[in-house]
Amino acid sequence: MEEYIRFQNVSKVFHLTREKKEAICALDSIDLSIRKGELLSIVGASGSGKTTMLKLISGILIPTSGTVSIKGEAVHNLRQDTGNVFQKATLLPWRSVLRNVLLPVEVVKGEVRDKDTHRAYELLETMGLKGAQNMYPAELSGGMRKRAALARAIALDPPLLFCDEPSAGLDPTIAESLDRLILSLRNELGITVLIVSHSVPSILRTADSVVFMDAGQVIHSGSLPETLSAGIQKIDDFFSKGTSYR
Ligand SMILES: Nc1ncnc2c1ncn2[C@@H]1O[C@H](COP(=O)(O)OP(=O)(O)OP(=O)(O)O)[C@@H](O)[C@H]1O
Ligand SMILES: [Mg+2]
Repeated sequence: MEEYIRFQNVSKVFHLTREKKEAICALDSIDLSIRKGELLSIVGASGSGKTTMLKLISGILIPTSGTVSIKGEAVHNLRQDTGNVFQKATLLPWRSVLRNVLLPVEVVKGEVRDKDTHRAYELLETMGLKGAQNMYPAELSGGMRKRAALARAIALDPPLLFCDEPSAGLDPTIAESLDRLILSLRNELGITVLIVSHSVPSILRTADSVVFMDAGQVIHSGSLPETLSAGIQKIDDFFSKGTSYR
């Protein structure tokens, strides 16, 4: 598989005061290569830099130093070819499920055509949300909200899908069905998927490869079998806990 996303010596520092006296190094000199079509799990303790990494690829954040590139092209600003299921719920409460799913279409294309609405209905059906199009986010269960967010993330058929803890707070059965859904999207659409996950069962079910973060650094990246046999204590501890990492 060809290289798709590349981090070259990437650091991201957040300054907490205007005088820039206090700084947090969220990512420290990251070098990483992600291949097209792979399903990559990003794992690591809270605060280790996982969300920051996704935001640098989608152009929501820009590196303090180094370069993030997609297909050899440096990411300088917000990209429209990434679909995001954000860590925090971001469905707009005043919009129905259908109008939430159509939001990226409205923003990017400036109008919604019949074929976009048709596609949105198709996506809702794929996500098991048939009939929920006129409901509002407050009327949905947690799992339904995540699936609606997933439908919205892929409404523009992005080649890249980022899911930041998609199954956090869901019961294991629903989490498993969400995993299956993401896996089938990858298999059917051939998209590259990056999932931040704390759930060992979910990683074992879905990941082709794993990036293991610790305090802003990548301590290991490789295929799932390589990761499981890397012989690194922190990784072994994580996988032997079996359920979650918090
Ligand atoms: N906008 C911001 N301003 C200041 N600091 C930030 C900002 N975003 C992230 N950070 C800091 O950068 C570090 C990495 O944060 P990040 O959100 O990437 O962690 P994470 O691995 O996703 O954690 P979690 O598992 O809790 O979601 C943390 O110390 C966090 O406080
Ligand atoms: Mg995060």
